Amino acid sequence: LSSGKLNNNIGRERTASPKASDYKIGSRIVAMVHRKGGVGKTTTTINLAAALADAGYKVLVADNDPIGNATSAMNVVSFEELNEPDAYPNLGTLMLGLTPFNTVVRRVPPGFIFPEAEAGSDEGGVIDVLPSHHDSLESVDVQLNKDTLESKLRLRRALSLAGVGDFYHFILIDCSPSLGALVKNAMAAADFWLLPMLPERFSMETTNEMFDLADFIQSTVNPDLSLMGVLINQAKNTNVSKAAIVELREAYGDSLFNTQIRDLAVLRQSQFEGRSALTYKGSREAANDYRRLMFEVIERADAPLTPRAQELQASLNSEMSPAPKRKTASKK
Ligand SMILES: Nc1ncnc2c1ncn2[C@@H]1O[C@H](COP(=O)(O)OP(=O)(O)OP(=O)(O)O)[C@@H](O)[C@H]1O
Ligand SMILES: [Mg+2]
Repeated sequence: LSSGKLNNNIGRERTASPKASDYKIGSRIVAMVHRKGGVGKTTTTINLAAALADAGYKVLVADNDPIGNATSAMNVVSFEELNEPDAYPNLGTLMLGLTPFNTVVRRVPPGFIFPEAEAGSDEGGVIDVLPSHHDSLESVDVQLNKDTLESKLRLRRALSLAGVGDFYHFILIDCSPSLGALVKNAMAAADFWLLPMLPERFSMETTNEMFDLADFIQSTVNPDLSLMGVLINQAKNTNVSKAAIVELREAYGDSLFNTQIRDLAVLRQSQFEGRSALTYKGSREAANDYRRLMFEVIERADAPLTPRAQELQASLNSEMSPAPKRKTASKK
């Protein structure tokens, strides 16, 4: 980053109300939001990230939830460390401008994305994480709970100043189940919001608030925000689940992703063991659900297909799974 660019940004802040368009990023940014807990925001974030990285994309995950489930699930910080009072550099300190991006970001071990035998592949996919820290993000949530545009643009500003768009194709933001300042920051930073929901009454009853919040952010600070889609998670083969899905299709039409993520116990097991659906033994169905979702995400984000993604798409379409073998790095 040239110091000139930094100075320009600071100058603009002093003179006028900031807007999302003041902070260019360049990556495609998707925020997972739902006020209701347990609907699959984190599960979607980490498995979609793994599917994208497996397909050769460079992905940044911002763990914007003080609980830090995504951070611990992707093995970049231990559960104990997450809850220690002393904060390591994390998303919260980045948003406050206390620590630079390169001291915050952590790379996910390749075993999360690639089967062991194929580690060190040449395809270029990675996942980096801006980790959560419990106390730090909680306090940022309180500090930024103000009625100003500046307080909603901290995440976008931090990502823009770090120049992340030069490296990452996608940024996925995992949010807490709330409508608070951190979630507003995620929507102000994002191009798209994605609404995961369970085909159940309680999950379906909390969606209006999310649309209202998106309208508010769009009309005040980020006019480019749009709904990427509503994702049915934990679809089951029961009458209740099927009836709910019919109702959701009527309500959301084309906004509903065609892909539904099935209710698969293997997703809980893989999470428990710090793996993604992409590499966990016996999780081919789950991996393919996330790959199908990935192709819809790529299309809705109007992102180019990598060569590996093209191969994967052909094999998914012809139901010829397992996925094609990747080129492994030549051993020296
Ligand atoms: N498709 C699925 N099949 C089976 N289990 C699932 C599925 N999706 C999510 N789960 C499980 O449901 C639980 C809640 O999911 P998750 O943590 O992703 O929700 P969340 O929306 O992030 O919750 P919170 O708002 O509390 O952060 C987890 O234990 C997860 O493993
Ligand atoms: Mg979560």
